[in-house]
Amino acid sequence: MAFPHHRPRRLRTTAAVRALVRENTLRPADFVLPVFIREGATEPRPITSMPGVVQHSMDSLKRTAHDVVKAGLGGIMLFGVPETKDAVGSAGVDPNGILNVALREVRKEVGDDTVVMSDLCLDEFTDHGHCGVLTTDGDSPATVDNDATLAIYADMAVAQAEAGAHMLGPSGMMDGQIGVIREALDEKGYQDTSIFAYTAKYASAFYGPFREAVNSSLEGDRRTYQQDPANLRESLWELEQDIAEGADMVMVKPGLPYLDVLRAVAEASPIPVGAYQVSGEYSMIEAAAAQGWLDRERTMLESLLSFKRAGADTLLTYYALEAAELLASGRAPKEFL
Ligand code: PBG
Repeated sequence: MAFPHHRPRRLRTTAAVRALVRENTLRPADFVLPVFIREGATEPRPITSMPGVVQHSMDSLKRTAHDVVKAGLGGIMLFGVPETKDAVGSAGVDPNGILNVALREVRKEVGDDTVVMSDLCLDEFTDHGHCGVLTTDGDSPATVDNDATLAIYADMAVAQAEAGAHMLGPSGMMDGQIGVIREALDEKGYQDTSIFAYTAKYASAFYGPFREAVNSSLEGDRRTYQQDPANLRESLWELEQDIAEGADMVMVKPGLPYLDVLRAVAEASPIPVGAYQVSGEYSMIEAAAAQGWLDRERTMLESLLSFKRAGADTLLTYYALEAAELLASGRAPKEFL
């Protein structure tokens, strides 16, 4: 036989044969759109570090929720930006707090036509910007009190379920958060409210632009509760605990720099796995594309496809609407259709 014996290029010769053997594809229902709702805003406000993403007013949020349904997205994930913050994040628990009001409004608009999700964390609501309440002994750097925070998460979960969220996304990385939230929901009769656990969540520089998106006042960092970027094994330990405590779905975050973690979690998980393409990943693509250094649409879709290849079932991305529209209109580059 002539050399080479194998010619993998045969299956790359035409677009048709490439389509025939394509292992992974993207579809609108894979995507979840994260959105920010700003209390008191009368019109959407641009987020400078995330070109194309805004802090919504209630009206623009409602319109976007309808766009999400029309585009056939899997879901919409709400983040609240309250007008006033305090040490314990009261606005997160208050039924009249901006996130809970927005959940109620969005649910009224979309019913069960898409999955309405809410971020369940205190950092958007605390004046110090941490994901929980602080110990009172004035430590420097500030220490987040795990168990005191859990009690607030339980109340927040009930408030969000009561407001109509289908699925809660606890993202604070407190130990035991899934168990406490599940118990609180069940106790109040919210057995059908699901938990999408941020299972592997790293202390990442890629969240940079998100801080502007939620007007965060954080000083210091989250390294005493979010995971060390150097570690993989502990994500599997977090996975085991979240499943044992009652998670319905699990998430890995950030996405692109943690595809190895995503692959490991996807292989170990008996329940659906999501990946979050976070603010910094979005902004990097936008910044390079604005310079003409990257093909924006190809980079967007290729990065999303990489999450599917790594084993994700669900993709949280600020590109959700645009990617879905590109795919549905047939305008997406052929290698993604
Ligand atoms: C915490 C939370 C964060 C993000 C989602 N949920 C910020 C953080 O943990 O520091 C980041 C999302 C993004 O960067 O797009 N509520």
